[in-house]
Amino acid sequence: MRRPARLTSQLLAARAAYVLRGNDLGTMTSAAPRLYPHMWSWDAAFVAVGLARLSVPRAVLELDTLLGAQWGNGMVPHIVFAPGESGYFPGPERWGCHLGVPHAPPFPATSGICQPPVHAVAVQRIVEAARRQGRSDREAAGDLLDRAWRPLVAWHRWLATARDPQERGRVVLHHGWESGMDNSPRWDEPYARVVVGDLPPYERRDTRVVTDASMRPSDREYDRYLWLIEEMRRVRYDDRLVHETVSFAVEDVLVSALLAVACDVLADLGEERQQSAADVADLRSWAQRFRRGVVESVDPVTGLARDRDVRTGRWLATPTVAGFAPLLCGGLSRADEARLLAVLDSEQWCGHPGLLAQVPPSTSPAAPGFRPREYWRGPQWPVVAWLFHWAFARRGWAERAAVLREEGLRLVGAGDFAEYYDPLSGEPLGSMQQSWTAAAVLDWLC
Ligand code: SER
Repeated sequence: MRRPARLTSQLLAARAAYVLRGNDLGTMTSAAPRLYPHMWSWDAAFVAVGLARLSVPRAVLELDTLLGAQWGNGMVPHIVFAPGESGYFPGPERWGCHLGVPHAPPFPATSGICQPPVHAVAVQRIVEAARRQGRSDREAAGDLLDRAWRPLVAWHRWLATARDPQERGRVVLHHGWESGMDNSPRWDEPYARVVVGDLPPYERRDTRVVTDASMRPSDREYDRYLWLIEEMRRVRYDDRLVHETVSFAVEDVLVSALLAVACDVLADLGEERQQSAADVADLRSWAQRFRRGVVESVDPVTGLARDRDVRTGRWLATPTVAGFAPLLCGGLSRADEARLLAVLDSEQWCGHPGLLAQVPPSTSPAAPGFRPREYWRGPQWPVVAWLFHWAFARRGWAERAAVLREEGLRLVGAGDFAEYYDPLSGEPLGSMQQSWTAAAVLDWLC
């Protein structure tokens, strides 16, 4: 495929702003206009990062809407459904969270699972953006932090307790969707053991929007996704019962690294704003616990971090981008960190000679299961490049962060704002006008 010409930075930023404005539903931004017409939890956080470059109050509103749907136990749900919008499956009826689920809010309708905890990062970016603006923006950001403090601490506390009951330092997930990386080969082994029972019939909608089936998870994968919802719904999303009974239970090393870093970010913000010292101390101790859990997962042979299947106790060592989790949260020895960075730069990853842009693909292009067009099985995701860019800048690796920014912009330079890209041809794939892709571009350019 011939790649279209790269737009000027000015035009690209203008188009990114246009995408976010176009996807704005008023108090929430749809993750993508047709494929994902509601608010998704980690999408909303990245969207807020981009919105902060356009309007601090609008970015604040995005997080307020998300946190307004928080469950009573602290969970921030992975979808907040836009009222009156029926173009997505599985919708509120299928999740059944309005049917006697004790912690679910009566309104708005939500899903019953979570997504990666990147929201503190968004608050920090909003606070930073506001510092460059006038007094009213600074006040709006400060007020957000005061308002969001308890909800965010409760969210992190829920992850550190309900999702790490044995304090192993790794967050347990009960659905691949909770990782945000739905069909990543990371989850093939635990999904292979999910036996689908009497699943109520359903019709997929995603493949009506993205009509090339090779870009989306298979029907077989979807059956399992729906079955896990059924299992959780049957125990009314009770944390303990979910943990004991749902067929899929994995310790996710990337989510654990993100929780560690998000706890540190939130603790820093809390100290600046003189929030509760006890909460700050809890956040610091969780950061330490999850950083340790990530470091302990590292494969001595490959140097990559690993997930773990809770049901079998086995490490899951498929080479995916999650293997670089320790680079996000730190904690490795100098030698191990240098080794992991060398892997990232190697021909197995960003240095692969076939790549058009040097940002990490979702799966190693040198792995036998690499599929360059299929969702989380190979494509490059601009938002993942942004996340590594942000984390590297935070860790003081300015040069590496600059390269990721430059290469990320190379990926999205034609201005289609795709969900993901074929690393070998550069073809934009999945949904177009994806909000978080536009948000990453705005943060890079403005
Ligand atoms: N990413 C999921 C989907 O494809 C939802 O979380 O619908």
